[in-house]
Amino acid sequence: MKKAAVGLAGLTALYTLSLTGLAIAQDPVAEGKKMYEQECASCHMANGAGSGIYPAVNNLSKEKGLEMLKGYRDGTYGGSMKSVMVPFVKGKTDQQLEALAAYMATLKK
Ligand code: HEC
Repeated sequence: MKKAAVGLAGLTALYTLSLTGLAIAQDPVAEGKKMYEQECASCHMANGAGSGIYPAVNNLSKEKGLEMLKGYRDGTYGGSMKSVMVPFVKGKTDQQLEALAAYMATLKK
């Protein structure tokens, strides 16, 4: 009996965990927000307003933002400071860049 009860609790925990994981994976804005806050906000500011040499990213459509991020990653976009920016998109998947672009598009000035 005891064993069965533990097994059920374990299963329930696993189920809850995988549901949470799925919810994040299926919500690009939430996934993008997490990445943005950890990796991008230090330069572009939490509200995307930018500062000094760091351009604002709170004025982009999702499409435009994605085009820029893919451009930095693939070497087809960027200005004189691109070497500062490229390391943060290098190695990211299309899905990760889409999530970032989706989140940036929610930042409005
Ligand atoms: C160390 C500072 C730094 C970090 C961290 C950083 N960036 Fe940047 N970012 C820059 C700089 C500098 C530029 C301008 C580069 C150039 O000359 O093209 C830039 C440009 C951009 C642009 C293009 C803006 C435009 O109008 O051309 C976007 C979009 C962007 N960054 C998004 C992000 C995202 C998303 C992240 C996190 C994954 C990120 N950045 C992390 C410094 C940073």
